[in-house]
Amino acid sequence: MPPGAALVLAAALCLTPVKPYKPVVVVHGLFDSAEDFGLLQDFINRTHPGTRVTVIDLFDDSQSLKSLWRQVEGFRTAIAPIMASAPGGVHMICYSQGGLICRGLLSTMPDHNVDALISLSAPQLGQYGDTDYLKWLFPNYVKTNLFHFCYTEFGQSFSICNYWNDPHHHDLYLNSSDYLSVLNSEQPHPNTADWKRNFMRIRNLVLIGGPDDGVITPWQSSQFGFYNENEVVMDMRKQLVYLADTFGLKSLDARGALTALTVGGVQHVNWHTNWTVYQDCIQSWLTRG
Ligand SMILES: *[C@@H]1O[C@H](CO)[C@@H](O)[C@H](O)[C@H]1NC(C)=O
Ligand SMILES: *[C@@H]1O[C@H](CO)[C@@H](O)[C@H](O)[C@H]1NC(C)=O
Ligand SMILES: *[C@@H]1O[C@H](CO)[C@@H](O)[C@H](O)[C@H]1NC(C)=O
Repeated sequence: MPPGAALVLAAALCLTPVKPYKPVVVVHGLFDSAEDFGLLQDFINRTHPGTRVTVIDLFDDSQSLKSLWRQVEGFRTAIAPIMASAPGGVHMICYSQGGLICRGLLSTMPDHNVDALISLSAPQLGQYGDTDYLKWLFPNYVKTNLFHFCYTEFGQSFSICNYWNDPHHHDLYLNSSDYLSVLNSEQPHPNTADWKRNFMRIRNLVLIGGPDDGVITPWQSSQFGFYNENEVVMDMRKQLVYLADTFGLKSLDARGALTALTVGGVQHVNWHTNWTVYQDCIQSWLTRG
């Protein structure tokens, strides 16, 4: 290469600097808090140095039982300015219950700029299973009778009940759930079209979950599968909300924007601290922009 050409090449390289990584916003789950995500921040710093990572420190621990629409409002106030200061867009990593908060947030934000929405073992189509959390919170109830409590106005003031999805009382769920069934537009409402359009602004939806989770029940809820009335798990693509494309799931799939990643050997509390999970399922989505 003649010296002149090398100079031109060097100049060109200087003029096209590498774009920075898009900021990452993290939303925590039930009974945990921002400080539980230090390791995830380290992982991101290791593979994507310089990334601005914000773990939203709101509704920590027992505050995470507040109703989900209330939490969505709170998280919106914290996250909107981060989005506004990132013209190239942001990525979101939303863990467990946080996955439902993120979906509520994005469905109701007409101007959000989320590139990858990474749902980390989130009960996206709801929860129907006994867990230690439930036993501790509602010692007098088991999964078969919790609907008596959850499908009431008082019950719906607790986050857990907002996505309690009892397959044996589907009508009652539709009538009483004021979060999940509304967010899914399982019955049409005045915001259905707007929310669907807003949600579909994301570029990629990444659904991470696995059979050894032990909390999300059925675990396939993390990938929009759920029980039918006989407690047989039906795949996402057999779900009514998918088939009728009530909130954009089918459209995202048709656009090639939906990725489901199934990982074995990970218990619910370990998803965000597992280096292999981060490397195999998360890091490649955290692009520059
Ligand atoms: C990221 O990693 C570098 C190198 O190990 C370290 O110096 C820096 O403090 C880390 N930054 C954050 C925000 O953790
Ligand atoms: C649900 O609401 C509809 C309309 O208000 C009512 O007719 C129906 O009986 C309700 N179903 C249940 C199971 O409560
Ligand atoms: C971490 O994830 C891998 C799968 O990527 C799994 O085999 C392993 O058991 C997990 N370790 C923990 C402590 O969760």
